[in-house]
Order: sequence, then structure tokens, then C-alpha cells
Amino acid sequence: MACSTMAALWVYTVVLLALEAGGGACLRDVTLSVHPPAVERGQQARLVCNYDLENTKLYSVKYYRGQREFFRFFASEKPQTKVFAIGKVPINVDLSRSNATQVVLTNVDHALAGNVTCEVTVEPFRMLIAGAILTVVELPRSPPKLWVHQDRYELGDQLLANCSAPPAVPPAQLSFQINNVTMPTAMDTAYHFTADREMWSALSLSMRLDHRHFQNGRLTLQCTAKLPAGFAVKSEPQELGVRPSEPVPERVTSSSGWRARALLLLVILAPCIRR
Ligand SMILES: *[C@@H]1O[C@H](CO)[C@@H](O)[C@H](O)[C@H]1NC(C)=O
Ligand SMILES: *[C@@H]1O[C@H](CO)[C@@H](O)[C@H](O)[C@H]1NC(C)=O
Ligand SMILES: *[C@@H]1O[C@H](CO)[C@@H](O)[C@H](O)[C@H]1NC(C)=O
Ligand SMILES: *[C@@H]1O[C@H](CO)[C@@H](O)[C@H](O)[C@H]1NC(C)=O
Repeated sequence: MACSTMAALWVYTVVLLALEAGGGACLRDVTLSVHPPAVERGQQARLVCNYDLENTKLYSVKYYRGQREFFRFFASEKPQTKVFAIGKVPINVDLSRSNATQVVLTNVDHALAGNVTCEVTVEPFRMLIAGAILTVVELPRSPPKLWVHQDRYELGDQLLANCSAPPAVPPAQLSFQINNVTMPTAMDTAYHFTADREMWSALSLSMRLDHRHFQNGRLTLQCTAKLPAGFAVKSEPQELGVRPSEPVPERVTSSSGWRARALLLLVILAPCIRR
């Protein structure tokens, strides 16, 4: 705000004067971005703090998770970087790839998840901050498990199924798909604590089946465990529509074709047999 007012003032007065005064010196446009926006626990994330120095001199860039600083870059001190633990959680920084505009975190832990900010300080003294959200997810240890009441279902049957997913962070949201289409459920995903205070997820499906649920007689049921930012794990799909013992149309055609040919052969042979 003060910055743009000042800039406008300078434009208003003689530009030469502004240059002489070394003016227009104003840190601006501080932004923080997280790449990728959501990271799997143990993977790496890059926080990019961009800014426009505009004739000022960079003094430092500090990164915070909430109120706690975890990384600092000094423009003109040796060493240029300093890493801080957050409580008992060590922060792993790839120093070779961290500089005045970015910090590369490796083996990211949940302790870092949440609001992160970068604070840019310049000389003559001015300080600006920018924030972003770092999402750290932990996928369930194994895919969700699907239980279905019957092996096979027909039109008009009541489909009964349960799905559960091992603990994840944040806890996974479950949904059922029939032939890749998500089905509405009466209840939302339920979350249950394990002995280790982790949360696993469960969801039930109960629905009357109509023709929309069968595609050429096939009904494939699957359960999906969803985490933020597009992370998802799917159960094994279960085929509940076609019975293996049902006759397949091709066999009927080929056998009738065989019968027609046999009949033709009989007609041709008939005169010989009579003799
Ligand atoms: C920091 O490193 C990144 C990636 O190598 C590079 O794109 C960026 O320009 C560097 N920033 C500075 C201020 O050197
Ligand atoms: C993160 O920042 C937003 C906006 O500033 C704030 O509403 C929210 O409470 C913060 N969350 C945490 C965990 O500090
Ligand atoms: C599904 O879960 C409900 C409630 O936990 C239980 O009563 C039911 O027996 C389960 N059904 C199947 C098919 O596992
Ligand atoms: C569901 O989608 C997958 C991947 O796109 C595809 O391979 C599969 O054939 C689809 N299944 C049905 C029943 O449409």
C-alpha cells in the first residue's frame, strides 16, 4: 500500500529527481509457492519465495512454519544458510539446491504441514511476508478392502458392500464406484481410532440395483480411498454381474451353423443312402 502510493508519487514528480535520490527503492511483490502443493510424507518439497528488490539490497529470507522459523538465508554472511529444528523434529534441507529464492526440503514430515511463510528483509530496512499452505499426506499402507455380501447380483437385488482403508494422514475419504461411476451412500465415511491413535476409514453401501448399474451384464464394484490434492488408492475391482455358467451368445450361433451344414450334407447324401 505505502509502496504503491510512493511509486505513484515518484511518477508524479520529475523522474530524474527520483533516480538521483536513489528512490523508488522499494521491496515489492513477495510471493510464496509450494511445489508440489501436496507432498507425500518422506518425499521432497520446494518452497519458492519470489520478490522484486527494486533497487534495494537483500539482507535475509526467513521461512516459518506457523510461528517457528526453520530456514534462514543471509545474502552477505558466511555461512549463508541456517536450518532450525521444529521442536524435536529435524528439518532436512538440500542446501546445494537452496538459495536466495528457494528452499528444498527433503524427507518432509507432518510437522511442516500447514501455513508456511517467507519473510524477506532488505536494506534500507523493509520487511514483507508471504504465505502458502504446505500439505503433507501419508497414503494408507495398503489399498482399501472391499467386502460384498453376495458373489453375484442381478437386476432388482439389494447390493450390500463394506469398504475399509488402513490409517492415512489425513484420514482417507471413501467412495464406491460401479462401472467407474461413483454411487451415493446414505452415510459419509466413518473414522475409527486404532490403538496407536491413528485413524482408519470405513463406509457401507446398500442399494437396489437397476439396469443403469449393468453394462452388457457387467457390474464392477470398486472402492476408492481419497486424500487431498488428488492422491487416491483403489481397491481390487470385483466383478459381480456376469455368471461364469451363463451361456455365451457366440456358441449358440456356431452350433446352429453346424446343424444347418449337417442338414445340407444329409440332403446331398440322401439319394446315395436310398440306393
Ligand atoms: C535458485 O535456484 C533455482 C533453481 O536452480 C533457480 O531457478 C533460481 O534462479 C535461483 N535463485 C537465485 C536467486 O539464484
Ligand atoms: C493458516 O492461515 C490462515 C489464513 O491466514 C488462518 O485462517 C489459519 O487459521 C491458519 N492455520 C493454521 C493452522 O495456523
Ligand atoms: C458391513 O458392516 C456392517 C456394520 O459394520 C456389518 O453389520 C455388516 O455385516 C457388514 N457387511 C458385510 C457384507 O461385510
Ligand atoms: C473403468 O476405467 C478403467 C480405466 O479408465 C478402464 O480400464 C475400465 O475398463 C473401466 N471399467 C468399466 C466397467 O467401465
